[in-house]
Amino acid sequence: MFDLYNTSYGNYASDAYRQVRIETYGQDFGQTSWVTTEESLEIPQLLDLKRDSVVLEIGCGSGGYALHLAGKVGCPIVGLDINESGIRNAQQLAEAAGLASRAHFELRDVSEKLSFDEATFDAVFSNDVLCHIPRRLDVLAEMFRVLKPGGRMLFSDALVIGGMISHEEIATRSSIGFYVYSPPEENERLMKQAGFCQIRSQDTTEHAARIAKKRHDAREKWKEELIAAEGKANFDGLQKFLSCVHILTSEKRLLRYLYLASKAAVG
Ligand SMILES: C[S@@+](CC[C@H](N)C(=O)[O-])C[C@H]1O[C@@H](n2cnc3c(N)ncnc32)[C@H](O)[C@@H]1O
Repeated sequence: MFDLYNTSYGNYASDAYRQVRIETYGQDFGQTSWVTTEESLEIPQLLDLKRDSVVLEIGCGSGGYALHLAGKVGCPIVGLDINESGIRNAQQLAEAAGLASRAHFELRDVSEKLSFDEATFDAVFSNDVLCHIPRRLDVLAEMFRVLKPGGRMLFSDALVIGGMISHEEIATRSSIGFYVYSPPEENERLMKQAGFCQIRSQDTTEHAARIAKKRHDAREKWKEELIAAEGKANFDGLQKFLSCVHILTSEKRLLRYLYLASKAAVG
């Protein structure tokens, strides 16, 4: 196994890791996902976020994007992640930005029941996280439960099977942790089963192909600094992982989808 999240969040403030994020995404939200900046900037409109919308982000990493929403839209937001360094960064960044009263971060394993009452949030979203969680239906049912009637949810899944993939490719693509691969249409079926309506999906495979290549090339440029921080074996392992993502997505053998759905309003 190679370590993507501890190395990214643990070295969050280092110049080399910041440069890699800027060269990969353009705008630095501390991302470790396949979300392009264009996609990030569309999320407030897709979720119909307003200043008073109460928002939950599942798998917020270092919290940069949640803080962007809290600052730009002005909405209160809670971010959850299982990674200690990620949550520590998020809390420190919230304090430093003067946003700690609006943006709150908790260390949580979201494969467990969420610690919020029913109908707490106006919007719930999750970028490239649900593929790491077992029992997708349970996670979607929890997202549905904590959402207010009339609320919106959004998530992305970069592990939808699109074609033939060898066992070596599956092993390399899975070399950073636990992953669940889905057949096409399965997320839509599970969202419906969890209770969601107005389900829409958008093929964003090209975003993953582009980001994987940019991240690979940016890391190659900062190789010396990254090897000093994360070690050569991990550096090489992550480069192989990123090349594999690029090949599988550019050949459309692995697809990434963005899903949007609602909880029906009452009455
Ligand atoms: C691909 S990263 C995406 C992070 C962020 N959403 C972004 O766009 O950069 C996946 C995130 O899911 C988190 N994660 C994985 N398993 C989790 C779990 N069981 N509970 C909470 N977070 C989890 C990881 O720590 C990581 O931050």
